[in-house]
Amino acid sequence: MKITILGAAGGIGQALSLLLKNQLSSGSELSLYDISSSIIGIAADLNHIPTNVKVFGFFGKNIKHALKESNIVIISAGVSRKPGMKRADLFYINSNIISKLIENIINICPNTLICIITNPINTTVVIAAEILKKAGVYDKKKLLGITTLDIIRSNTFVSELKNKNAKEIEVLVIGGHSETTILPLLSHLEKIHLTDEEIIILTKRIQNAGTEIVKAKSGNGSATLSMGYAAARLCLSVIRGMQGEKNIIECVYTEGDRKYARFFAQPVMFGKNGIEKYLQIGNLSSFEKKILKNMLKTLKSDIKLGEEFIKNYLI
Ligand code: LMR
Repeated sequence: MKITILGAAGGIGQALSLLLKNQLSSGSELSLYDISSSIIGIAADLNHIPTNVKVFGFFGKNIKHALKESNIVIISAGVSRKPGMKRADLFYINSNIISKLIENIINICPNTLICIITNPINTTVVIAAEILKKAGVYDKKKLLGITTLDIIRSNTFVSELKNKNAKEIEVLVIGGHSETTILPLLSHLEKIHLTDEEIIILTKRIQNAGTEIVKAKSGNGSATLSMGYAAARLCLSVIRGMQGEKNIIECVYTEGDRKYARFFAQPVMFGKNGIEKYLQIGNLSSFEKKILKNMLKTLKSDIKLGEEFIKNYLI
């Protein structure tokens, strides 16, 4: 199995690489790409860790070598927000970065499974889909936006509030990955009773958790370590599905059945070729129904922005 990380010298890329070097199965290959030549040293540094996963670093024009024969490509490249910015404010700069990287994927490994971290996820995933479509290689089961960070945050915050073991909590988070489009389905939690007031407080905290970190880092970026952890969890789930393990379920932002919007974060089951099944989100409480209804305008306009961007884009 070859996993490639694009933007691997950044904070997320380095955390993710460390976790994957430590957790990928023996014989796997980790290919790290960045525009910065520091990636050569980062790969060398990781290779001093005694696991049977070989790490290779590539920079600048050598993206071809990084991508060649990749089974999974994770894109964390791009600019992160500063205090006062919304994720959507990164659209102009990051959409160009994503577009170029997707073009390279199309040329080198068009059948790979692509996982996108780069914000605004609600839109960058759409841009990727449209470029792949233009090139005639789009497979919706092999393209997703990583929203696992919203899930691990939800698990942590619920466990803190209720004094429970976070490892035993799994909150489904649906919708998108921006403030009002993040919808944790706290009503689905079994065995944990949350009052209406607790649900309101938790939902707000989960929706604003990214901003909480951006503020706390005061101009020095956004979440990197927790995002690296979330991306590693998702990547390992994708691999387990590809290797034939059954019932591997995660929430991801993907082009599903279009029930609510063309792209939507929902639970999916992974299989040998990526997403094998789109799962239902189940019953929602009246509070959750209201958030879902209110988010759709924003989510649909984020999606449209990606579709419009690509109309004039020549590949
Ligand atoms: C997050 O949720 O932490 C990331 O999407 C980064 C950000 O800008 O909030």
